[in-house]
Amino acid sequence: MCGIVGYVGKRPVVDILIRGLRALEYRGYDSAGIAIFKDRKIEIRKSEGRLENVEKLLREKINFFSDSTCGIGHTRWATHGKPTSQNAHPHKTGHIVLVHNGIIENYIEIKRELMSRGHLPLSETDSELFGFLVLEEMEKGFNLVDSVRKSFLQLKGQSSVVVISEREPGVIVGVRNGSPLVVALDPEGGVILASDAQPLIPYNSEVIFLEHGDLIIGTAEGLKIFDLETGSAVVRPVVRLDWTLEKLDKGRFPHYMLKEIFEQPEVLVETLNGILDRTQSQPYAFSEQPGVKILDQAIEFIFVACGTSWHAALLGKYWIERRAQVSVSVELASEFRYCQPVLRPGVVVVGISQSGETADTLAVLREMRRKGISTLGISNVRGSSISREADAVFYTFAGPEIGVAATKTFTAQMLVLYLISGYLSNQRKVKNLDASSETFAGVIKLPQLLSESLQPNSKMMKQIYNTAMSLTKVRGFFFIGRGYSFPMALEGALKLKEIAYEYAEGYAAGELKHGPIAMIDKGMVVIVLAPRDSWRDKTVSNLEEVKARGAIIVGVGDSDDEDLKMLCDYWIPIAAENRSIDSDLLPFFLAPVVQLLSYYRAVLKGTDVDKPRNLAKSVTVE
Ligand code: F6R
Repeated sequence: MCGIVGYVGKRPVVDILIRGLRALEYRGYDSAGIAIFKDRKIEIRKSEGRLENVEKLLREKINFFSDSTCGIGHTRWATHGKPTSQNAHPHKTGHIVLVHNGIIENYIEIKRELMSRGHLPLSETDSELFGFLVLEEMEKGFNLVDSVRKSFLQLKGQSSVVVISEREPGVIVGVRNGSPLVVALDPEGGVILASDAQPLIPYNSEVIFLEHGDLIIGTAEGLKIFDLETGSAVVRPVVRLDWTLEKLDKGRFPHYMLKEIFEQPEVLVETLNGILDRTQSQPYAFSEQPGVKILDQAIEFIFVACGTSWHAALLGKYWIERRAQVSVSVELASEFRYCQPVLRPGVVVVGISQSGETADTLAVLREMRRKGISTLGISNVRGSSISREADAVFYTFAGPEIGVAATKTFTAQMLVLYLISGYLSNQRKVKNLDASSETFAGVIKLPQLLSESLQPNSKMMKQIYNTAMSLTKVRGFFFIGRGYSFPMALEGALKLKEIAYEYAEGYAAGELKHGPIAMIDKGMVVIVLAPRDSWRDKTVSNLEEVKARGAIIVGVGDSDDEDLKMLCDYWIPIAAENRSIDSDLLPFFLAPVVQLLSYYRAVLKGTDVDKPRNLAKSVTVE
């Protein structure tokens, strides 16, 4: 995880680094720091805690860096060493200063060797050691670029590193090996680079996603890219991003998470436009998607993912098996990569990851590729690692998601999986269900219906707010559901833990009596997800069981479901208009309910909604 930003050029650098780090704070926020050339010396300001602490340090001498135009910055998610100022990046070793993202797997060995040669690291990090390696090479007479190259080749594991030296002012050297790095030219002269594209957008929306094993040299004159191993120059494609500054801003919302929840209808439109070719008369005629051929050949699927993406995968399984009758298994990437899975001919392994950088999901795709298994990716980030590891990618079109909790990217993943189920159903002429042009018409109506439900004065919105705010003196929450509502129950519990730090469990309603019901008493809230689908009646029976044990019941169901409403202490109706669409689409309406419930609980508790403790958005370590 961790976020890196660097700039060299003609503009004042402090503002670029601070704005860049602010955009990257979602990647980690244990500590932050910047290193800036002041004349020929490099000055460092770093601190544990949030970026504000570094800004405070900068305010102490407000004009000190006003003529500086080269520097690097970092925001940290601690792996090796506690989140202290000492362990914060940048690290300075002699005249070398660096920031690092990733893990140096052979750091113990390197540390032992460095110490035997008389070096004494000041921090507990693996990152700092790299500075000593570069320093040693420069002492042998190599320049900064060659020294970084030689040193990097000694590392094991996946990292990106950006290095500057007081001996070569105005030069930034970066290496990408695993952890992402994106670069762009500053039209006014110079180069900006970062762990993702967001810090680059204010300066240039034409960016280059570096590939594994790329080494770059940035100066005020421009950018050069080399292959780390061979040292020869390489050319990488320039990608034009359609992200506007507006999309990177909170706008009128108090938190990014809230803004992103409300963006879901728009995200559905963008994803539909991006995936479907609506000029074809055939429903589910995918546009020129390279992954379509792989879908056509699939006999079965294995979905691998983590966290919220894993919940989307579970929904995908329900949809694809029910609608297209193709078998799907869903695996946690962190487990699957260390299992001995049975991989039958015709299996397609699909990695689902909004960031496209999650280490475990990527490792699975890499391993499958090595074994000659067909792979697909579903990701929200163009140029992300998943697009290199998978044979083909279906992109979601959610735009940048800045809140650490996944919301709109989840909905976009759901939509892609739903569309895939419809495509497969159509291609394979599955007749028993309704994945037909009518369903296509249903999905087209989704954004409008969702947008109506999300109106501030809708019944759904009012009831979510009232419920979240009224539940006091509560010991914990159980989300329960069956069928499509089961993954939504898991998602509801994850969100509540993640941002409101509440004890929460998600259960398949039928599983409660196999153990967890022992937890149910007067202090427990049970949130029952029971829209009127084929599982609703069974879920209602389970509701009766927990009600009998004194739990506080929050019901989520169709607005005209009076019977269900009567059984509940709190009632959240999902829009009545849902009736005009397929019950397969109900998860799209449950998603904002569980997201908003968690959001308002978090607000009530006063947690840092967009940057919940101990988390980071992009999990690039195992
Ligand atoms: C929860 C959340 C995480 C991610 C998980 C996988 O709100 O954001 O659980 O879903 O870390 O991340 P991606 O989708 O980037 O692979």
